[in-house]
Amino acid sequence: MGAGNMPNLNGQVALVTGAARGIGRAIALALAEDGADVAVFDILSDPLKEVEGEIKSRGGRAVAGQGDVSREEDVTKFVASVEQTLRPIDILVNNAGIGHSADTWSLPASEWQRTIQVNLTGAFLFSKAVIPGMISRRRGRIINIASTGGKVGWPKAAAYNASKHGLLGLTKSLAMELVEYGITVNAICPSWVMTEMAMQTAREIAASGGMSIEQALENMASTLPQKRIIAPEEVARLAVMLARPDSQAINGAAINIDGGSVPY
Ligand SMILES: NC(=O)c1ccc[n+]([C@@H]2O[C@H](COP(=O)([O-])OP(=O)(O)OC[C@H]3O[C@@H](n4cnc5c(N)ncnc54)[C@H](O)[C@@H]3O)[C@@H](O)[C@H]2O)c1
Repeated sequence: MGAGNMPNLNGQVALVTGAARGIGRAIALALAEDGADVAVFDILSDPLKEVEGEIKSRGGRAVAGQGDVSREEDVTKFVASVEQTLRPIDILVNNAGIGHSADTWSLPASEWQRTIQVNLTGAFLFSKAVIPGMISRRRGRIINIASTGGKVGWPKAAAYNASKHGLLGLTKSLAMELVEYGITVNAICPSWVMTEMAMQTAREIAASGGMSIEQALENMASTLPQKRIIAPEEVARLAVMLARPDSQAINGAAINIDGGSVPY
């Protein structure tokens, strides 16, 4: 598959977590469009199969696996099956994530732990599973979907903020550890993106503020310099760029895609 005459990721295998919907889905479709074979992983089975079907219907190669990014067994099993059915993984996109909204002093410890496990440990486990293959082939791309919340703090988001700050730490550490093998590791830090995660927040704001969901979305957008919630496809284009071979010099970076809301 691939738009234009020369897709850049021809012959490469990409694995995207949290690919059943939202940003992960858009990234999986965009990587396939750029020529990659794509393995998609999510805890939700039915919408994931739809994404697999969509890639295939556009002429790409895809495999889907249902599982939990925070369970090492699910992760190692899926990576092994992808390496058998496709080929070893060249591009890993750690995208699966969950949010929450609660005063930190009333956040159940279980919810704190779950957020860290999915958003941070999940990225560690998938990285751990694919790195040996990348090292042996002396190439690879790891792209972590963090957040502007990995750079600044928000109220009622301690576990999310901590997990995303941690994900940036993992990104920087791995970037240094893997540089000698030709592997790059980077993070993408979006502000609000129009997905189920953003809609969930909009519904909460609408309910607590006595306003419509449209008004809540407008309020969320109004906090950003460009006054808009960005599209998943905009994030996907940045992920594709980082995945391409000619992005070798970009390493250990945490790139904002936020209309300028965070100045560092
Ligand atoms: N939407 C935003 O405004 C926004 C902004 C910045 C960063 N992000 C980040 O982007 C990533 C994608 O979020 P989204 O907005 O597309 O949200 P989303 O809720 O639409 O999609 C997240 C996907 O991850 C999957 N997932 C959740 N837990 C999982 C687990 N344990 N194992 C496997 N899959 C799991 C979900 O089933 C879902 O398909 C997240 O890491 C999120 O933190 C989102």
